[in-house]
Amino acid sequence: MIKQETIDKILDAARIEEVVGDFVDLRKRGTSMIGLCPFHNEKTPSFHVSVSKGIYKCFGCGAGGDAVRFVMELEKYAYPEALRYLAQKYNIEVEETAVSPEQAAVTDHRESLLVVTNWASKFFRDCLWDTDDGRAIGLSYFRERGYREDIIKKFELGYSPEAWEALHGKAIAAGHDEDFLQETGLIVRKDDGKSYDRFRGRVMFPIHNLTGRVLGFGGRTLKTDKKVPKYVNSPESIIYHKSDVLYGLFFAKKAITVADSCYLVEGYADVISMHQAGVENVVASSGTSLTSGQIRLIARYTKNVTILFDGDAAGIKASLRGLDMLLEEGMNVKVLLFPDGDDPDSFAMKNGADAFKQYIEGNSKDFIFYKTDVLLKDAGTDPVKRAEVIHDVVESIALIPDDIKASVFIRECSNLLDIEERLLISELNKLRLKASRKDQQLPEKKASSPFAGNEPPPDLFMDPADGVAPSLETTFSPKVNKSQSIALQEREIIRLLLNYGHVPAKWEQDYPIAFVLLAGLQDVTFTDALCQKVVTVYLTFMEREELPNDRYFITHKDREIADLAITLLASPYSLSPNWNDEKRKIYVAQETDNLKNAVLGALYRIKKRKVEQNMQDVREELRQETNAENLEMLMVKYQKLKMMEKEITSYLGTVIVK
Ligand code: UTP
Ligand code: MN
Repeated sequence: MIKQETIDKILDAARIEEVVGDFVDLRKRGTSMIGLCPFHNEKTPSFHVSVSKGIYKCFGCGAGGDAVRFVMELEKYAYPEALRYLAQKYNIEVEETAVSPEQAAVTDHRESLLVVTNWASKFFRDCLWDTDDGRAIGLSYFRERGYREDIIKKFELGYSPEAWEALHGKAIAAGHDEDFLQETGLIVRKDDGKSYDRFRGRVMFPIHNLTGRVLGFGGRTLKTDKKVPKYVNSPESIIYHKSDVLYGLFFAKKAITVADSCYLVEGYADVISMHQAGVENVVASSGTSLTSGQIRLIARYTKNVTILFDGDAAGIKASLRGLDMLLEEGMNVKVLLFPDGDDPDSFAMKNGADAFKQYIEGNSKDFIFYKTDVLLKDAGTDPVKRAEVIHDVVESIALIPDDIKASVFIRECSNLLDIEERLLISELNKLRLKASRKDQQLPEKKASSPFAGNEPPPDLFMDPADGVAPSLETTFSPKVNKSQSIALQEREIIRLLLNYGHVPAKWEQDYPIAFVLLAGLQDVTFTDALCQKVVTVYLTFMEREELPNDRYFITHKDREIADLAITLLASPYSLSPNWNDEKRKIYVAQETDNLKNAVLGALYRIKKRKVEQNMQDVREELRQETNAENLEMLMVKYQKLKMMEKEITSYLGTVIVK
């Protein structure tokens, strides 16, 4: 656990514009900075960073938070990982609360191995660029393949010298532990106790983890001798679990998030060539069949996967089975076939970036349909074989967890297979029944979906700037319209509280605006539970004669409160229910000059609603009352309310319409 003092130091040091600025090109606009949102694809910037408040907010996709949240969302880090990232950026030493000696030993051990592999990566790189052999053999090999220098550098490619003890000698001289070298597989120990380098005379592909640290290597031979293995790879170790690693993910994750899709290829060369062609949302399973761990890695970033196959028919049929696992994990799977003899690497090099992009965009096909096609062609007119195909295809569809998606596939496939839909459905149900019986026998196995909890929370409310609200006001029924506007009025109060709560109200003897607002609303309960929660926070603080600050809300552990605060703190407009009229948009910049109007306007709008409600109640009482004296009292009450309403309305008339 990271110590609270360290966390505070990190939060104090992290400047939102610097943290975001490492990933987004930010430009100054008024009091905030704007840029293109890294969380969705956009051409005009709707991503705002408020330097003074330390938060970001995208009015396009709704993403928002503080510096820590930004790192968590962008890099898919857990909270402590994000803190560590920021600590590193700001040179803050991370102090941990006591961990058990066993835990400490495990961390130390992993860390030691990582130090060794990362040192080795640098060694291979230096050999490639700075030695005669490296340049003459390794670098010229890459160049002949058409790799650009920037790409070679980006992927940190290297060269291992053609010698038995090149790395070993250097590593020991640099003070690295022999055991760690062996455990990471960089050296191989013989029975007689002597060791030699695993990688010799090969071009080196380092394999990175999600934060860019090197876990292991693939080394490709430069010989054409068939007896020499083409690739030698690092063995499994406590830092390199092959089934949980995808080659290239570190370089692809951002592009995958933005494109909301991921290309899956076979080899290192494919990943690198595709980057060079400008397609960066690509990862490789590195020759082995895909594991569920790897699928879950992709699923952290997107549910849409396209598998790129080289056009070798036998290979394709064999790998169809493996893809069922993707369906089972709830992924949307497409496949894309390259012309016979080509893989993504050779196709991109042969045809150039533009043609390559065009090809992959135009030729991907849904996996289920593709599988149906391939199997049908194979079966020809043989009725027994055709029946097998039907069975096979329904088996795949039965794996899709989403019923609606599955039923769409059933319908489409009934056309393709030329068989009645209801027969396919009954087949599907049989399979599902069988599967659920199996599940019940093994209740532990699939207790919850791997995606549980990964769904984005539903949008809690609309953003004033995203253009949704105005159309809601005009298209929804009057009832919805009214509650919409009540919610907006309440949120406007909260927005003013959060943004100006501590500012002295000049027209009220310099009492803080929070006090003025809440004193004015003593008799009002908020209908919106979330707003009420925020108000309660203020009331609790005010009892101690204190006021909560921005950070208290932005980092609130109730995610709903934090999200509301972030959005309202970042909102460039006043939440006027009349904002569908362009002219009435009240910009915050002007608002600070005219806080009295903003505060009283918001107060009176809520009050007006309260008064209207009271009038309604009194009217109801009047209808039922028979006692003359009471009737008169009610009439007086009603008149008073009506006067109040009039006053409020005329006051609001001067505030709203500027
Ligand atoms: P490929 O043979 O397609 O390799 O194997 P490649 O990366 O495209 O290399 P080039 O284009 O021939 O230079 C696909 C992947 O399978 C793994 C590697 O991860 C490779 O990238 N592989 C292949 C091995 O691990 N060992 C091998 O002997 C061959
Ligand atoms: Mn290849």
